Amino acid sequence: MQLFDVYPLYDITPVKGEGPYVFDEAGTKYLDLYGGHAVISIGHSNPVYVDAIKNQVEKLGFYSNSIKNPLQEELAQKLEDLSGCKDYSLFLCNSGAEANENALKVASFHTGKSRIIYFNNAFHGRTSGVVAVTDNESIKAPFNAKHEVTKLAFDDVEGLEGELKKGDVAGVILEVIQGVGGLDEASTEFYKAASELCKKYKAVLIADEVQSGYGRTGEFFAFQKHGIRPDVISIAKGMGNGFPIGGILIDNSIPARSGMLGTTFGGNHLACAAGISVLDVIKEEKLMENAAAIYEYVKERIAEIPQIKKLKGRGLMIGLEFDFEIAALRKELLFQNHVFTGAASNKKLLRILPPLNIKKEHFDTFFEALKIVLK
Ligand SMILES: Cc1ncc(COP(=O)(O)O)c(C=O)c1O
Repeated sequence: MQLFDVYPLYDITPVKGEGPYVFDEAGTKYLDLYGGHAVISIGHSNPVYVDAIKNQVEKLGFYSNSIKNPLQEELAQKLEDLSGCKDYSLFLCNSGAEANENALKVASFHTGKSRIIYFNNAFHGRTSGVVAVTDNESIKAPFNAKHEVTKLAFDDVEGLEGELKKGDVAGVILEVIQGVGGLDEASTEFYKAASELCKKYKAVLIADEVQSGYGRTGEFFAFQKHGIRPDVISIAKGMGNGFPIGGILIDNSIPARSGMLGTTFGGNHLACAAGISVLDVIKEEKLMENAAAIYEYVKERIAEIPQIKKLKGRGLMIGLEFDFEIAALRKELLFQNHVFTGAASNKKLLRILPPLNIKKEHFDTFFEALKIVLK
């Protein structure tokens, strides 16, 4: 059986990882400044993470969510401690799209309404609504039947109020920093207004922190810089350092309803063990502080490269906007200089999402490679 064609594949086969590096079959070492789309948060094969998974699989790898799993409680407590997000409840699932599916469902169940607002250039996942074709009315929210959505301009407070006023909006979903879209961030006024307007018109504000969360921006969540409190927060990617795990934090003012959410694999023992070790390493090694410090270093160094027109993002969610389309540059960085970087919908933007324990010297290597390629 052949594999279904999903992404265009680069002709490299990594077989081993170590910290910020991956190695191919021939032993060639690559600097990973992309972390497999922001997934590798504490480095490849981090020993704390490896031990946590090994120890757990020797004890119990999986049992269903119909039994108590103390590892879920430990994960939730550590997540609260490190993020500072109090009075939320955690629902665990397996991926970012699944987290957002559940977030939309929570918004719709809670409000009894069916319309969701999203923004230009947003990216929230690739699934397409299986509850709609599940013959069990008790787990369907109004949104699941209708899939009514409205797209608005990012940063447009007036437009948002105009839609919310209509009274049929269940939720507003946004990325505080748009990842795939190209690292755009709206103004603090916009996020504050979105938060207040959602309260006023009784809609649920969903912050999709799947890419920007887990310390990547230098704060645990990107929204924290803007001083808002979303009703629901989606998480995944960096949460498991490669082990599939996602989740939503749901404000405790939104009551749980029997049957509303559920999953077979979500929050299983192995995933939780991986997730706990990630939080431990982020805390012990002060990786949020590192993310913020490295950003400052990158800011200094880009002055040496006139082809870079703009630095976007925060912390280790970095976008370098060039004055030309970067597809060829990315390929050359990878094949000639052995540095992994990422792209975005904005074709001139190089996306850099390295492990959070990356060091200045790794960026030195990157900037040297960049200068060679740009010569
Ligand atoms: C902001 C955001 N939300 C959701 C997703 C979807 O996550 P997943 O691929 O784990 O389903 C992504 C993936 O890139 C993302 O960047």
